[in-house]
Amino acid sequence: MDNHKITEDALSRLNNCDDPRLKEVMTSVITHLHGVVKEVEPTDEEWRQAIDFLTQVGHWCDDRRQEFILLSDTLGVTMLVDTVTQRKPKGVTESTVLGPFHVQGAPKLPFGTNISKDQTGEPTLVTGRVLSQNKLPIAGATVDVWQASAQGLYDVQEPERFPDMNLRAVFHTDKNGRFGFCTEKPASYPVPTDGPVGTMLKALGRHAWRPAHLHFMISAEQHISLTTHLFVKGDPYLESDAVQAVKDSLIVDFSLSHDNAEADQFRLPTPYYKVQEDFVLATAN
Ligand code: BEZ
Ligand code: FE
Repeated sequence: MDNHKITEDALSRLNNCDDPRLKEVMTSVITHLHGVVKEVEPTDEEWRQAIDFLTQVGHWCDDRRQEFILLSDTLGVTMLVDTVTQRKPKGVTESTVLGPFHVQGAPKLPFGTNISKDQTGEPTLVTGRVLSQNKLPIAGATVDVWQASAQGLYDVQEPERFPDMNLRAVFHTDKNGRFGFCTEKPASYPVPTDGPVGTMLKALGRHAWRPAHLHFMISAEQHISLTTHLFVKGDPYLESDAVQAVKDSLIVDFSLSHDNAEADQFRLPTPYYKVQEDFVLATAN
């Protein structure tokens, strides 16, 4: 059988599939996979390596580690999916990757709390509002935040070194849509490289770094939930994020402030970094 016939035959075996969407998806998957093989013409050894690689990716997955998502992230697939699934009206805050370090059940904390339990790193005040599309404040919105430390690590990566739930919290906006918290300035960090995806990045001559960022997951009744980041302006990895997740509208100033009155109000030393950003949610239909 020639090349072409094998592909045609594989596609014809979908004829009895009575789920039209599944049929559409699998037609595309088979067509593109066959296309890769026809274009690349792998040797037996290369094909075995490909299967071994995917097997390793599977073996690295468990409740705490999702190497397939990391593979999708580092091949730009996650951000491609984001462009397809997260089409937002103009004026609505843009989304970006969730990443593997979100934890359910972070502590619900009041306005102004310092989420850096050991208060190391450079002190930072983050404030903002959650708004609806018509720019009206949303009271009672949930603002779930998490971030890497000044050392570029999440608490879950080294639980023996960092306090539990360090640099994580859930806030609720006040009647003016406001939220605010103190923290330490996040640092850039490499995505996990101890597994097969790390080996792949090395073989491809790629670095694993993500620019420093804060993570936000924001939800409110009658609005579409938003998963996004705020990136630190000036970070050296903004142009080459290992997971291609930077959007210009999400890059913000961490400006140095010497405001003693505000520092006292939030029990911060001066100087401290200050970030102010509003998030706009799309209305749910
Ligand atoms: C993160 O920002 O936490 C992240 C996103 C994608 C891959 C690895 C980490
Ligand atoms: Fe992150």
